[in-house]
Amino acid sequence: MTQPDHLSGIRTFYDAVAVDYAARFHDELDAKPLDRAMLTAFAELVRHAGGGPVADLGCGPGRVTAHLQGLGLSAHGVDLSPEMVALARRTHPGLRFEEGTMTDLDRPDGTLSGIVTWHSIIHTPDDLLPQLFAEFHRLLVTGGHALFAFQIGDEPIYLDRPLGHKVSLDFHRRQPEFVAELLAEAGLPVQARLSREPDDRGMETTPQAFLLSRKE
Ligand SMILES: C[S@@+](CC[C@H](N)C(=O)[O-])C[C@H]1O[C@@H](n2cnc3c(N)ncnc32)[C@H](O)[C@@H]1O
Repeated sequence: MTQPDHLSGIRTFYDAVAVDYAARFHDELDAKPLDRAMLTAFAELVRHAGGGPVADLGCGPGRVTAHLQGLGLSAHGVDLSPEMVALARRTHPGLRFEEGTMTDLDRPDGTLSGIVTWHSIIHTPDDLLPQLFAEFHRLLVTGGHALFAFQIGDEPIYLDRPLGHKVSLDFHRRQPEFVAELLAEAGLPVQARLSREPDDRGMETTPQAFLLSRKE
């Protein structure tokens, strides 16, 4: 199937920054108890619903996939960037990571108990979100959960030459209400939401949103 145009730009960007990204964010969750609380609640809900496969979509170097596995889930990661996938496999040899796009996963309907997108829908343009959420709805079992983390804001930022790499990319910042509305329209109504202020140690410049939704 032909892939949407924006995907090749994402792949190029993350292939270039993979090693630096992994070094910078590998232990980030340790200092973010609220973020971990959302992951813990998600894991508990999935386990209480009987467990089953959980996909970390846009997994990057696999740090969140490994965290989910540590919470007792059967987690695997999918990412568009071959460099990210190679790095995730090297770092977490006991886990499964696949190259692919979350917009079109080669997987039958209703075969995931959970989906996590941790700062990875931020590169999907607004007009493509409805079809992305329809794909998540297709993949989840009825009663399955999805967890989304993203930056809050109104305008995308354009990141040019991060850390000296000759790449650039749009990072979409969104209002939680906007994303929640699209999720509800896709049959994934939001069950819980958390917004928090930017971390005061300088890594974050915007408030952060976490939405937990459930397939009806
Ligand atoms: C900001 S990084 C976050 C990585 C990881 N979730 C984490 O928190 O460390 C965004 C990741 O999403 C991936 N990504 C973006 N769009 C994607 C898509 N359509 N399918 C699969 N991966 C995608 C990128 O390749 C990149 O690795």
